[in-house]
Amino acid sequence: MSAHDKTEPTRRDFLYIATGMAGVVGAGAFAWPFIDQMRPDASTLAVSSIEVDVSAVQPGMSLTVKWRGKPIFIRNRTPKEVEEAKAVALGDLKDPIARNANLPSDAQATDADRTASKEKENWLVMVGVCTHLGCIPLGQQGDFGGWFCPCHGSHYDTAGRIRKGPAPENLAIPPLSFISDTVVKIG
Ligand code: FES
Repeated sequence: MSAHDKTEPTRRDFLYIATGMAGVVGAGAFAWPFIDQMRPDASTLAVSSIEVDVSAVQPGMSLTVKWRGKPIFIRNRTPKEVEEAKAVALGDLKDPIARNANLPSDAQATDADRTASKEKENWLVMVGVCTHLGCIPLGQQGDFGGWFCPCHGSHYDTAGRIRKGPAPENLAIPPLSFISDTVVKIG
């Protein structure tokens, strides 16, 4: 080995080192959001349930609140949206499971088992996180008039059920109950 080899990296060595560094930085940047999401902060732990007054949310209006760090969509559906959701045959659903934390895990994704209660079938309360890779879907858009996730093109219907695109599951329904006519408790 010559003195030159010992003390000065060649240009090719330098390129390897630079590429290696970029790889390390890249991996760090990629891993961070996952690690960060897994660590609940103090405010998340403190707010295990929330109560939301929905008296101002008229039919056709929506409200988004934050619960445990996630957006929660609260929609007062129009009669047309409810009828459209009810008219869908279970066999047409990509995910036939209700995904409703208030019901057994094998409950089916009928419109009734997606809504807040039988008496309040107009209210739909869902975790606003696309079940594909976690983007936040846009309301009242897409081929089924429900929610549309523009990240990779997932279409949800007016009951938040996945109908088209790569998302595997219906939008999740969080634990909830109406504690008065106009206040819903989430969590
Ligand atoms: S994250 Fe919604 S479609 Fe991919």
